[in-house]
Amino acid sequence: MSPEEFRRYGHQAVDWLADYLEHIRERPVLPPIKPGEFTDRLPASGPEQGEPMEEILADFDRLVAPAMTHWNHPRFLAYFAISGSPPGILGELLAAGLNSNGMVWKSGPAITELEQVTLGWLRQWMGLPDSFAGVIYDTASTSTLHAIAAARSVAAPDSRRAGSPPGLVMYCSAQAHSSVEKAAMTLGIGQDQVRKIPCDADFRMCVDALAAAIGQDRAAGLVPFCVVATVGTTSTASIDPVAAIAEVCERERLWLHVDAAYGGSAAIVASRRWILEGVDRADSLVTNPHKGLLTPVDLSAFYTRRPEALRAAFSLVPEYLRTASDPRATDLMDTGFQLGRRFRSLKLWFVMRYYGREGLAAIIDGQCNLAQRFAGWVRDDARFELCAPVLLSLVCFRLRGSDEASQRLLERLNAGGAAFLSHTVLDGRFVIRLAIGNHQTGPGDIEDVWRRIQELAAGA
Ligand SMILES: Cc1ncc(COP(=O)(O)O)c(C=O)c1O
Repeated sequence: MSPEEFRRYGHQAVDWLADYLEHIRERPVLPPIKPGEFTDRLPASGPEQGEPMEEILADFDRLVAPAMTHWNHPRFLAYFAISGSPPGILGELLAAGLNSNGMVWKSGPAITELEQVTLGWLRQWMGLPDSFAGVIYDTASTSTLHAIAAARSVAAPDSRRAGSPPGLVMYCSAQAHSSVEKAAMTLGIGQDQVRKIPCDADFRMCVDALAAAIGQDRAAGLVPFCVVATVGTTSTASIDPVAAIAEVCERERLWLHVDAAYGGSAAIVASRRWILEGVDRADSLVTNPHKGLLTPVDLSAFYTRRPEALRAAFSLVPEYLRTASDPRATDLMDTGFQLGRRFRSLKLWFVMRYYGREGLAAIIDGQCNLAQRFAGWVRDDARFELCAPVLLSLVCFRLRGSDEASQRLLERLNAGGAAFLSHTVLDGRFVIRLAIGNHQTGPGDIEDVWRRIQELAAGA
């Protein structure tokens, strides 16, 4: 492709994106498509000869876009809703063009240093201690895997050579994300060695039950080594009592990892910083700018005040990657199992500079306030019940009565294409989740979705 062609098609692609973002409300959030239908529309084999770019772009518009679930839609209110903001999209585009690989400082000086600079800014914005060193990974699942590997390297320093010793046990709440268990599966600790500590009525880890479980495991000759607390659980956005959990971890000498994948971003709002109370006593923390901070998927920010434990778990330098040492040169390959890493921090830098802390905080605060408004409507309608406290931008609710009525309501709402909400199960009951996280979601969207829900409830 010549530079002139690249320029022309590049402009077309950005024009397509600008139109997409401007008119996204005209698209159904969920595509009316069945599994396999998209594949059936594509040729069974790849082309022998190259095809004109016009046709590729036309097929993207004709085939790919209509088969997408639109996460950037203001009425995407499922899971944890997100935003790929225009500045973030441009950062991603430029990073792809540079196509550099930040394995070591020398292979990507700006990749390495911008990662540390942006994570330093974010650390300040979230009020985390200066001693927290940051690393960017793709997802919170990967960040948590690295936290648990670092914790294991402290508890069992020989594990990198000899493998996981038997008897290691770790703890999280019954509401923790499945990524905690998956990390235990991946690291050879095993699902059976993950204790799911019960929660109180507000879905927060019971600290007494945690202390009791640790005591029982020690009495049985097992080796407790790590606790994962959550700030913003996936089902309800509940916040574990991190300070009290830190107390237990300090007493028992256990690594404390805080999963703030969703909740952490809200700490950049000064009045909401309390959500991270006690986190300064944690050994590590993850938060996902690709969830709350308008940064396109994927970008997960991991912090630890024990970077030496991370290196002890992962540093392995073959001759072909050896470079001259310099006190200011960090080699990011030493901070995880992957060697190559793309330039993720560029999009975060664009977002942080374009909006500033105040701009981002105003958006997050607005989303939390919208969630409160929605919760108020639910509370005032006797047909519905709120199922969990609304602390951030997530509302859990259901129709009073049978699960089937709420299930049917959600299916019919989503099938209409005007919005997409998801569900969870709490205390054995089916619950609808409305998660506000897109920067274009406004009061009009929420009012309209509530009106539709009321109409469906009337016909239920
Ligand atoms: C609390 C929590 N932790 C971890 C994750 C996993 O995030 P990721 O998709 O970045 O691995 C999620 C996903 O929603 C989450 O809600």
